[in-house]
Amino acid sequence: MSTTWQRTHTCGELTSAHNEQKIALCGWVSRRRNLGGLIFIDLRDRYGMTQIVFDPAIAPEAHALAETVRSEFVLWCQGIVRLRPEGMHNTKLPTGAIELTIHSLHIFSSAQTPPFSLDDEPSESLRLQYRYLDLRRPALQRNLLIRHQMLSCVRRVLERHQFVEIETPILYKSTPEGARDFLVPSRMHPGSMYALPQSPQTLKQLLMIAGFDRYFQIARCFRDEDLRADRQPEFSQIDIEQSFLDQESFFAIIENMITTLWEQVRGEKIITPFRRMTYNDAMNRFGSDKPDLRFEMELQDITSIFHKSQFQAFAGKHIHALIVQQENFSRQRLDQLTEFVKGHRAQGLIWIKVTDTLQSPAAKFFSQEETDALRTQLNLHTGDVVFIVADIKKKIALEALGALRLQLGKPRKEWAFAWIIDFPLLESDGTRYFACHHPFTAPAPHAEEDFFAGRNLENLTAAAYDLALNGVEIGGGSLRIYRPEMQQRMFEILGLSAEEAKHQFGFFLEALSYGTPPHGGMAFGVERLAAFLCDAGPIRDVMAFPKTQTGHCLMSGSPSAVNDQQLTELGIRRH
Ligand code: AMO
Repeated sequence: MSTTWQRTHTCGELTSAHNEQKIALCGWVSRRRNLGGLIFIDLRDRYGMTQIVFDPAIAPEAHALAETVRSEFVLWCQGIVRLRPEGMHNTKLPTGAIELTIHSLHIFSSAQTPPFSLDDEPSESLRLQYRYLDLRRPALQRNLLIRHQMLSCVRRVLERHQFVEIETPILYKSTPEGARDFLVPSRMHPGSMYALPQSPQTLKQLLMIAGFDRYFQIARCFRDEDLRADRQPEFSQIDIEQSFLDQESFFAIIENMITTLWEQVRGEKIITPFRRMTYNDAMNRFGSDKPDLRFEMELQDITSIFHKSQFQAFAGKHIHALIVQQENFSRQRLDQLTEFVKGHRAQGLIWIKVTDTLQSPAAKFFSQEETDALRTQLNLHTGDVVFIVADIKKKIALEALGALRLQLGKPRKEWAFAWIIDFPLLESDGTRYFACHHPFTAPAPHAEEDFFAGRNLENLTAAAYDLALNGVEIGGGSLRIYRPEMQQRMFEILGLSAEEAKHQFGFFLEALSYGTPPHGGMAFGVERLAAFLCDAGPIRDVMAFPKTQTGHCLMSGSPSAVNDQQLTELGIRRH
């Protein structure tokens, strides 16, 4: 390209200090106005916007060319900076005190009329189809710049703590994190597949075995799971692992990373140490393992009040309550809330309006003793509304009320970080056990004996922790199993036959036997963190090219069909 069409400045930096200077800019046409023979264009690049002016009396050729310019054309222009007349300043723009009177113009590219104006808020599917245009909008440009700042800050902090950035493969073997794997068939080995990593879990542990001591990576992860606003099939983690760690100093490093992020990206001070809460406490009090602590409204266990109850809906169940103070719920709203908790696996919702009496369709089933106990134990006042969920499974009752709490709570404007610790190690669906975090998580030291003996498996505590922020799990991790016999035992408990364990994880079990340091770590969801730092909603808004809730890339049309020859080469038959 000719060197004559170089810019001297960006569209975001000219001020009255540049008055009378000869300047060249490059950018996109944001808006063009024709006013009394003068043409005004707002020229945009990622740094900002500058008003450029074409006056036929000053530069007739440039003015004539400017007549042909439309939205989103890409221009080079050169001119002289002028102060805008008194009263014509645009105080909303950093460049609002000046304009550039153009002497020469070059059109690099014309543009079709875009499918939406960048000032509008079109449907998300249109935005995703034309993502490259959507990304021109200042809000998304800002989000991606903040994401960049966040990652460069993370790199600086972790480097300061001696962590080494190491990349690990994408074409790999299954790394179980609880989702389905995305598989990639191998052409050279028909019938064999790579699996895309759900996280670099085994790889980072192998790096500890290799002696790297402190590792991190901004890692791409792939999970074939049901998608939600905060879940994408492909996402990034700040993945961290450390050898010879003790949990306290590790938490301190992580807290340092988080507070530095908030300070450098948002200019906000976060108080440390973060609050800590056990998993049991979080579940019992907030009905969630990622409690939103920006408001109180704690759940209450009222099972004991009803231990003699004749009420069928309570028989043999765990009974929990949520009290909402001074709210007036219409009948229709109560019906909606009942449907809402049913969507969270509860069988129903009992509500009680507190006045001089307890008003509820279920009140006739309560004895006087139970009514009195409810009033005193829950400290009820006129105007309160009590919501009750009873279920054979305590977790269902708690989670349904926890979801209701989130619906009805009024969060304060604050950053409520909390470490959730002492997670359970295993859960069961009645037929087999699953690892609550992943199969490489160690039992807490006091649980080791029962773990090996196979006693009380569902109640074992894991050396696992999550970091929750405002009701979102932003990161999770654990201390790892580093003894081969313990890892082998874990695979046994999870129902993997010796054969399966060898096939899937033989290499890993063997690696553990060559001198493994005690180690642990955690991983943060990059998008979830960035969404907080940007005040964004869904994590799609902090991703350059996200997929839809159904896993589609609307821009490229992927996933898409491939031709027969490609399938044949991979040894795959069309069905
Ligand atoms: P975990 O599975 O808890 O742990 O994931 C860590 C963090 O990654 C984010 N995350 C996601 N973000 C967007 N879309 C998804 N589908 C998605 N799934 C998870 C969350 C979560 O807290 N290997 C372990 C970490 C470890 O033990 O060190 C792991 O991946 O913010």
